[in-house]
Amino acid sequence: MKKLPFIFGKSSDSVNFTDREEESARLEMNFNSLINTTIISPRRWGKTSLVESVAEKIRTENKNIKVCLLDIFNVRSEMEFYEQFAKEALKGTSSRWEEMAENAKKFLSHLLPKISFSPDSQAEISFGVSWETIQKNPDEILNLPETIAKAKKISVIVCIDEFQSIGDFPESLAFQRKLRSHWQHHHNVGYCLYGSKRTMLLDIFSNSSMPFYKFGDIMFLQKISNQKWGEFIKKRFEDTNKKISIEQAEYLAELVDNHSYYVQQLAQQSWLRTKTSCSKSIIDESLQGIKNQLSLLFIGQVETMTATQLNFLKAVIDGETAFTSQENLKKYRLGSSANLKKIKNALISREIIDIPTQKVDILDPIFKLWLQEEFFK
Ligand SMILES: Nc1ncnc2c1ncn2[C@@H]1O[C@H](COP(=O)(O)OP(=O)(O)O)[C@@H](O)[C@H]1O
Ligand SMILES: [Mg+2]
Repeated sequence: MKKLPFIFGKSSDSVNFTDREEESARLEMNFNSLINTTIISPRRWGKTSLVESVAEKIRTENKNIKVCLLDIFNVRSEMEFYEQFAKEALKGTSSRWEEMAENAKKFLSHLLPKISFSPDSQAEISFGVSWETIQKNPDEILNLPETIAKAKKISVIVCIDEFQSIGDFPESLAFQRKLRSHWQHHHNVGYCLYGSKRTMLLDIFSNSSMPFYKFGDIMFLQKISNQKWGEFIKKRFEDTNKKISIEQAEYLAELVDNHSYYVQQLAQQSWLRTKTSCSKSIIDESLQGIKNQLSLLFIGQVETMTATQLNFLKAVIDGETAFTSQENLKKYRLGSSANLKKIKNALISREIIDIPTQKVDILDPIFKLWLQEEFFK
């Protein structure tokens, strides 16, 4: 099958990657100068794509910098973190499997490491000592990137995706302290820690009583602009011998609030429906298709919300901003203003809304549309 000109659900490869010039340059500079970086944005705006794209560039341009990428979305505990961290540190700095196994023996000798390879050639690491032993003395693991960097006379960048997961670990704060106390002594390693859940990550990185306070450069990744999306969509259509006007391309991105994941999805659906030239009705039809396809998921989502949470979302959809006014508290049955705070925090924590300034944003543009057109109608 021919490759589609638009992809979503996996991080963007080079032809599919657009814009982000400033952010890429800043991140590349940080990587080259080993400045620690934190990147924060809601889900699916493009953090992983950005980091992978810069990592790829560094890998090809500078043989003396090795990049290790780990994703801790499914990591639930300190022990799992150590396994993942050791594995990716070894993998990212070794060019062959044999070298990986050798380095494990050499640099983690006290932990009696064993590397095994599954049929799909994924490496797994396990340790011959007890969990208590590792927990008491995780130095070899947490210092592994620095040890390897020194031994090989290289620099190492360690990128940890979905970093907000750390907040849910048992004894998270003590663990964060452990990480920071090791990593702050690394002079040949740069860390890039990124994820969603702005409020939670901000607490970790900019609260003076938290271990990661002043850890490095904090980047708030914004959305790609409507103009850039327009140019990108038009070009991808043309590359594949189809047509879309710049106005329609911008309209397409605007419909889904310029949300990276959904722009790609809507563009792909519209492209598939287009024989030669894409029209407004094709775009509208594609949007309805995506909304219908997701409606079961959304129904599941609202089923797990409380009545007041839904009342609050209704007020947001209606364009209200003065939630604490007596009139609105009553009209939307929001309870007290103290209760309102609880509602907001619960919805923020579930990544349904974000309140970066004063305005409440519903993060998923299709969910918002579905609430508007189906649920609250
Ligand atoms: N710079 C970009 N150019 C084009 N598409 C992008 C870009 N960044 C993200 N996307 C699209 O958005 C989707 C989600 O991006 P991703 O990097 O996984 O977001 P995050 O890591 O913030 O959750 C990607 O699969 C891709 O389709
Ligand atoms: Mg991601």
